[in-house]
Amino acid sequence: MQTTIDQLEQKRDQARLGGGQKRIDTQHGKGKLTARERLDVLLDPGSFEEYDMFVTHRATDFGMAGQIYPGDGVVTGWGTIEGRLVYVFSQDFTVFGGSLSETHAKKICKIMDLAMQNGAPMIGLNDSGGARIQEGVASLGGYADVFWRNVQASGAIPQISVIMGPCAGGAVYSPAMTDFIYMVEDTSYMFVTGPDVVKTVTNETVTQEELGGASTHTKISSVADAAFANDIETLLEVRRLFAYLPLAAGQKPPRLITHDPLDRRNDKLDTIIPASANTPYDMREVIETVADEGEFLELQKNHAGNILIGFIRLDGHTVGVVANQPLVLAGCLDINASKKAARFIRFCDSFEIPILTFVDVPGFLPGVAQEYGGIIKHGAKLLFAYSEATVPLVTVITRKAYGGAYDVMASKHIKADVNYAWPSAEIAVMGAKGATEILYRSELGDREKIAQRTADYEARFANPFVAAERGFIDDVIMPHGTRRRVIRAFSTLRHKSVQGPKKKHDNIPL
Ligand code: COA
Repeated sequence: MQTTIDQLEQKRDQARLGGGQKRIDTQHGKGKLTARERLDVLLDPGSFEEYDMFVTHRATDFGMAGQIYPGDGVVTGWGTIEGRLVYVFSQDFTVFGGSLSETHAKKICKIMDLAMQNGAPMIGLNDSGGARIQEGVASLGGYADVFWRNVQASGAIPQISVIMGPCAGGAVYSPAMTDFIYMVEDTSYMFVTGPDVVKTVTNETVTQEELGGASTHTKISSVADAAFANDIETLLEVRRLFAYLPLAAGQKPPRLITHDPLDRRNDKLDTIIPASANTPYDMREVIETVADEGEFLELQKNHAGNILIGFIRLDGHTVGVVANQPLVLAGCLDINASKKAARFIRFCDSFEIPILTFVDVPGFLPGVAQEYGGIIKHGAKLLFAYSEATVPLVTVITRKAYGGAYDVMASKHIKADVNYAWPSAEIAVMGAKGATEILYRSELGDREKIAQRTADYEARFANPFVAAERGFIDDVIMPHGTRRRVIRAFSTLRHKSVQGPKKKHDNIPL
């Protein structure tokens, strides 16, 4: 006689099989893992506790009464990553294409509520054909229930979305409201309307991959923060990202003990700035040189390369880095760079992550396209994000800090805490050549005179000391001592506390 224990095991086996072996084989055939296999990679071995394994949909139309799959196309529960609690859902494409039914949505909402209540991040693995077509508006309501929770959770717990298959139509808006989106190259795509609809409405011919593949979203749209070659690599990268984050607002990120000496001197930085002010160098090298063990988790690597964002650790503590990159557009701030950095700063500020800013910025990018595109409004996002941030802010000016961009890039004036400059810093309204051409327009025909004027301007302003005289920077530091100095600066800010004015919320220029 079958025992109840056997029955339970049988029921579990049935649920674990999702939409059946044939569909699992199809999933594998596409180079994709199944929902449960993905969780095995994402979570610590043996840590996953599944909830609602036996939940089924309640639809009866379109022959649905006869098609019941326990779990209803999404695996939900909690587990740990490096021993730290995380709530997860993983859509099962083998069950109705991972489509979202009313009950599927309820399962997701249940764990989102638990994540919020218990103060732990949410990671969603998305692989879904969208709203369950057979259920109509009930499934649309389900989406909205998830969206609403995404917004409630925003800034309260970190939310990470991983796109591992289709994610189309309304389904895109849940990931879009989470903090980070990772995609899998070649097997995932996101779009509001697919290629067929695009063809009908705008007569544009575009493939699925071109419209919403990983390359599109990491390079052009910036919807995604990173993409990796396959499911396993992507999930391992999510684990890596997770390790930098706190579990919830008000909590500190975990500290990873480092064997990298805190006072490690780096002479390479003394010579990294080229002799000519117009020759670029790789700011990524500066970041990696300063970081614990040289590790920099860069986000949005292929979008707006003129600004770099990502996480490093200093003395084992997570630090968000924002840095102008002279290699791209000479490090100018433009619309995309401003938006990219502003959102990152707001994430860091929400979750108590201090921010280290490296400045080498010749100004905002000039041009009709930038003005028509609203650089005023978008540039203001960056200024706004830095100005409202109350986490510890440490800034190092390596070379240029010109014009309004000087103010924007975590200057003392917008309440950065500790501002350093290398001796190579030039803190001025603009470069010497441009300044001279405006100030001495009448002498432009006289080359010698202009050269002398330029040299005079350079001597006066192309250095950090005018700013230092006013206390706009706290010290001019040796580049080789940057790591030691910024670590010491952050150590003084660990208990920083700032009270802003009372308000409901701010009104960042969107
Ligand atoms: N609702 C219900 N079932 C769905 C579904 C949905 N939204 N999307 C996919 N499915 C089912 C398919 O009927 C199929 O079922 P089967 O295994 O019983 O044959 C299974 O999921 C796999 O779908 P299939 O179309 O064979 O996979 P694919 O990889 O070739 O294509 C999609 C994937 C997502 C491109 C395609 O399924 C699709 O266009 N789905 C509809 C998308 C949509 O319009 N959603 C509603 C608006 S948000």
